[in-house]
Amino acid sequence: MSTVTSPTSFTVPCPEVESLDAILPEEPLLMMGAGPVPIPAAVAKANAIVINHLGGTMAKVVGQVKTMARYVFQTNSKWVLGVAGPGSAAMEMAISNLAWSGTRMLSIKNGFFSERMAEMGRRIGAQVSLLEVPDRTVASLEAVAEAIRRERPEVVTIVQGETSNTVWNHHLQEIAALAKAAGALVIVDAVCTLSTMPLDMDAWGIDAVITGGQKGLSSIPGVSLIAFSDAAWERVKARKHANAHWCLDASLAENFWHNAGYHYTAPVSGVLALHEALRLVCAETLEKRFARHLKCSHALQESITAMGLQLYAPRECRLNSVIGIEVPGTLSPGDICGHISRHHQVEISGSFGLPIVRIGQMGEQCRAHNLFRTVHAFGRTMVDLGVAVDLPAGVAALEKSLSNGAKADARVS
Ligand SMILES: Cc1ncc(COP(=O)(O)O)c(C=O)c1O
Repeated sequence: MSTVTSPTSFTVPCPEVESLDAILPEEPLLMMGAGPVPIPAAVAKANAIVINHLGGTMAKVVGQVKTMARYVFQTNSKWVLGVAGPGSAAMEMAISNLAWSGTRMLSIKNGFFSERMAEMGRRIGAQVSLLEVPDRTVASLEAVAEAIRRERPEVVTIVQGETSNTVWNHHLQEIAALAKAAGALVIVDAVCTLSTMPLDMDAWGIDAVITGGQKGLSSIPGVSLIAFSDAAWERVKARKHANAHWCLDASLAENFWHNAGYHYTAPVSGVLALHEALRLVCAETLEKRFARHLKCSHALQESITAMGLQLYAPRECRLNSVIGIEVPGTLSPGDICGHISRHHQVEISGSFGLPIVRIGQMGEQCRAHNLFRTVHAFGRTMVDLGVAVDLPAGVAALEKSLSNGAKADARVS
């Protein structure tokens, strides 16, 4: 009889680490940056459950996720899928399924994230041309029309909300129409905007929309969503060479998301969390959710300017879902983010080398109690760091704006 003996010493010794209780702050940070955002209790509860990734229960969950996602994307297309991965994985799924070696792709570049789409195109060998848009502006329709005439793209990529510099591409519908008229497919990054502001996939003629979980939807990071139009799906099915990204191959993902079969083991807890996040969006309705985002974001913007600080993006193309605030010359974004986190347990973001800090207004961030705490913590931080802001004026402006909004809500309902 053979016996199995354990080695008495291992090449890699067993490490000693601290438990999470020792690492995490005693009071959880209020997540008011550019994502991830706070999650509702129902989402957290769902995220603690593991079920079989195949079988009847999961099939029902997946069916409901697709139905609810169609409402949020405003599409009747069958081709809605989840993605095990960040928003960038959904982005790469859109690009790598619709473009390949030699595909003419036009990327409208407003900043960091719209450039990422171009980079993903280059990496799969697409012929990428950039329409570079100056910081804090949006592409004019004339410039887009001219680029489309010149480059004759098969695929156009654009971001609805460029989270990095807080610019909102408000001409999205018109740009999609220009691309469509020229026979191109349109891919839209709605990672930071979906469910925070209108995006009407079918009516606007968009062919692929991507989003992450951790922003407007107030779900967990790491499980994302994508919707393809029928035209996009035809291109996916007609391609001659398989997508080199096996995990992101939409034809393989179809097996799980549409045939209750196996592709890879789905992140079941994350899908359950996403289900609950979408269910809460549906319970609230898009109409009310957009109004809540608008009201809270405007109140925050008014509060920041009443304090005496400047917003980074000009009003006409300012994103509502993430607000960029100019950092006074003597400070760095890191000084502010570090101080507010350490002293007030509120987390906000810097932005990839830009001289701004960013406060999010996505999903659960858009609640009056979170706004009051954040505005107070932010104003105090600025005072502590020697910036002469008028904090009482900022809080008063927040209160005034929110209560004006509340009166308007009462009149409507
Ligand atoms: C507009 C936009 N696109 C894409 C991404 C990438 O998402 P993720 O970090 O989940 O990959 C982000 C993340 O902040 C974003 O704001």
